[in-house]
Amino acid sequence: MATILITGGTVVSATGSAPMDVLVDGDTVAAVLQPGSRLLGTDLAAGVDRVIDATGKYVVPGGVDAHTHMELPFGGTFASDTFETGTTAAAWGGTTTIIDFAVQRTGERVLDGLAAWHEKAAGNSAVDYGFHQIVGGVDDDALKSMSELVSEGITSFKLFMAYPGVFYSDDGQILRAMQTAADIGATVMMHAENGIAIDVLVQQALARGETDPIHHGLTRPWETEEEATHRAIMLARLTGAPLYIVHMSAKQAVATLAAHRQQGFNVFGETCPQYLYLSLEDQLGAPGFEGAKWVCSTPLRSRAQEHQDELWRYLRTGDLSVVSTDHCPFCFKEQKELGLGDFSKIPNGIGSVEHRMDLLFQGVVEGRITPERWVELCSTTPARMFGLYGRKGVIAPGADADIVVYDPSGHTSIGVGKTHHMNMDHSAWEGFEIDGHVDVVLSRGSIVVSDGAFHGRAGHGRFVPRGLNQYLR
Ligand code: URP
Ligand code: ZN
Ligand code: ZN
Repeated sequence: MATILITGGTVVSATGSAPMDVLVDGDTVAAVLQPGSRLLGTDLAAGVDRVIDATGKYVVPGGVDAHTHMELPFGGTFASDTFETGTTAAAWGGTTTIIDFAVQRTGERVLDGLAAWHEKAAGNSAVDYGFHQIVGGVDDDALKSMSELVSEGITSFKLFMAYPGVFYSDDGQILRAMQTAADIGATVMMHAENGIAIDVLVQQALARGETDPIHHGLTRPWETEEEATHRAIMLARLTGAPLYIVHMSAKQAVATLAAHRQQGFNVFGETCPQYLYLSLEDQLGAPGFEGAKWVCSTPLRSRAQEHQDELWRYLRTGDLSVVSTDHCPFCFKEQKELGLGDFSKIPNGIGSVEHRMDLLFQGVVEGRITPERWVELCSTTPARMFGLYGRKGVIAPGADADIVVYDPSGHTSIGVGKTHHMNMDHSAWEGFEIDGHVDVVLSRGSIVVSDGAFHGRAGHGRFVPRGLNQYLR
């Protein structure tokens, strides 16, 4: 197995930054050393197989994207990234672990859904991966399977208060799933939107002839997110289940979450780059059908109402714990176009798995978060939240050598034909300029990106069984 010494850089962790050298031996980190250390009299640089010069650069734990949907069936089509294309794009962007969602819908068996996801990923993934399990049909068999899955390293279960007839659970089903989760120590992930109310608003809008993409956002007002968030928290309090609310975009919903966190309940929140940077007015409201590129749920929110600035603030206060992508890409041609003339038929999702580390680093450049908080939000906290910490999310002896050398003096231009490896015919981030650059990426000690080239391979990535939420024990 190869040995690598990363010298001259500043190691940034969730708790601090310091000039340090990092010694990698095979798959794992062997040591984190004083710069130029001559440990026991040895010249490490002369003894290793390869030296990576990180002078002037940050050396950070590889990104952990805790929310992706490779090949998700949605709206009569499938998310356009496979595990191969999606994880290759992830690697390009400095994300070395993804946690994807295996799917069970009403009438299907959870174990069959999980088996199908293992089949999609095995041998095809360029970086390591774990699974959450979507439980879209809570019944006795699904509840029994939840316990079995925990022992297989699938320790978090996503429920939906939205998408009636597809993934939706009613309050009784949610209550039962939360009771089971509380018993087995699993975390419930919640898509918190009042889907029953939204469906009525959607039908009323369509009846008025309001068919453009912006009506996707207007028929999912913040009240529907806040109400569902509150209801989910109440059910979690009632049952004692740990609750993680995914893809939060409404400042009022996060305020509700923050209030219950202050009371000491185990409720956590995630947001995504699209809710920090993009808006109802600028993207979803783009002329004609263009806004379809940014149809996702929860929807992009109004900049006039200052949701974006408030979400950045909640990232600073710690009330929002994680930034994931909710990577769910669809091409414009033939996929987003399914909703021409009817916004409710536009498949929901945006592709960002390649750009999360860069987009959040721009928050560092703009003084919104510190470099340490960047690492915490993108790597360390998602690892701890989903039972991977120690192995992932940290550069320390014994940890997997998932490492990014990030150049804060570099530059990244995002867009098709520039930085774009996701299997999409457009970029939701076209024209974004980042004052930083992912230079080198190691996945379990293998250099998968360097010198502007991809050196990884499909099949290098392995399934990573996860433990329980490490904030709770
Ligand atoms: O629009 C979204 N978020 N698509 C993916 C499915 C989900 O709800 O996470
Ligand atoms: Zn969702
Ligand atoms: Zn999602």
